[in-house]
Amino acid sequence: MSSNGIQHQLILDGKEVNFSAGETLYEIAERHRKEIPTLCYDPRLDPFGACRLCVVELEGARNPVASCTTKATAGMVVKTQTEPVEKHRKTLLEMVVSENREVEVDPLRGYASQELGKLTDRYQARTGRFQGAQSGQLHATDDNPFIFRDYDLCISCNRCVRVCAEQEGDHAIAAMGRGFHKQITTEFNGLLKDSSCTFCGQCVQTCPTGALADKKALRAAELPEPLQKTRSVCPYCGVGCSVDLLSKGEKLVGIHPAMDGPANEGALCVKGQFAFDFVQHADRLSMPMVRGDDGELHETDWDTALDRAADGFAKVLKKHGRHSIYGIASGRTPSEANYTMQQFIRRGYGTHYIDNCSRA
Ligand code: SF4
Ligand code: SF4
Ligand code: FES
Repeated sequence: MSSNGIQHQLILDGKEVNFSAGETLYEIAERHRKEIPTLCYDPRLDPFGACRLCVVELEGARNPVASCTTKATAGMVVKTQTEPVEKHRKTLLEMVVSENREVEVDPLRGYASQELGKLTDRYQARTGRFQGAQSGQLHATDDNPFIFRDYDLCISCNRCVRVCAEQEGDHAIAAMGRGFHKQITTEFNGLLKDSSCTFCGQCVQTCPTGALADKKALRAAELPEPLQKTRSVCPYCGVGCSVDLLSKGEKLVGIHPAMDGPANEGALCVKGQFAFDFVQHADRLSMPMVRGDDGELHETDWDTALDRAADGFAKVLKKHGRHSIYGIASGRTPSEANYTMQQFIRRGYGTHYIDNCSRA
């Protein structure tokens, strides 16, 4: 609905449909469940018009138009699935896949990494039809713990560059050169860790070919169990980003941001995206521990541990007074637990020295 609420009409595949001012042909077609293929499109980003896969026939236009960049106007007559348009899309796809070293990639590479492979299957596109120069250059030696840069698989859709600029506001990567010489790069073509990259992983998750891949998740590529996804909420802070946990058997192997997460719409920070090793780390505490007379920590039950903590608080209070006690509640806990914590510090010890790590 446009801001002034006025609806316009056009003809989409023979039917009159409504649209609001500012909508693109792709947005209207998607709303009417037309299956238009895309590669450079990400609904969170400004339309770019690079791949031309989303072309549709527009009455009166000499050539098919890219639906993701063409704004609708009243009275347009649009066809989304004609034979010439489908042939056009298949040829474009064959040009793209002829250049790539591989098309079927492991889904652990990233959220959107299967897009090119799925379209290749759908159009039965031949991968070796157009032989010629290859663009892109593998950055296998990029020394960082999170992102594999495999530009042999890059199709120059610029989704990574755009998500980094438009969503993350980081501008850590850019496109350099043109045609076969086009390359996604950092400033001075250096390492990602020497750029302004925050390792949020958004470029990985939007890449439609797996050219950018999640290094940590790929470590589980050889595990035989099927890949499973479980919807959850990131435990790190109070924002509450939705995530899909990737697991194989009992093992947590990676994280995908939830593109439909109301708080994050596909975005995560470096912790939410990559810092999940603590879940199954051998050093993770699973029992309360208290220090014994021998100076070492020993496992114990909760009552014993809480009694010991209460004794410790009482001694500190007696010796140093109420302002010697400071509490930090956790962004991982529910509101009720945080409320109880501030009551514990304020009422229990009579001090306002209470904070929450979500503010950090
Ligand atoms: S990880 Fe985030 S900040 Fe780094 S290049 Fe990718 S999108 Fe930009
Ligand atoms: S690295 Fe991936 S997202 Fe970036 S331009 Fe290449 S194919 Fe597109
Ligand atoms: S999706 Fe429209 S040009 Fe790429």
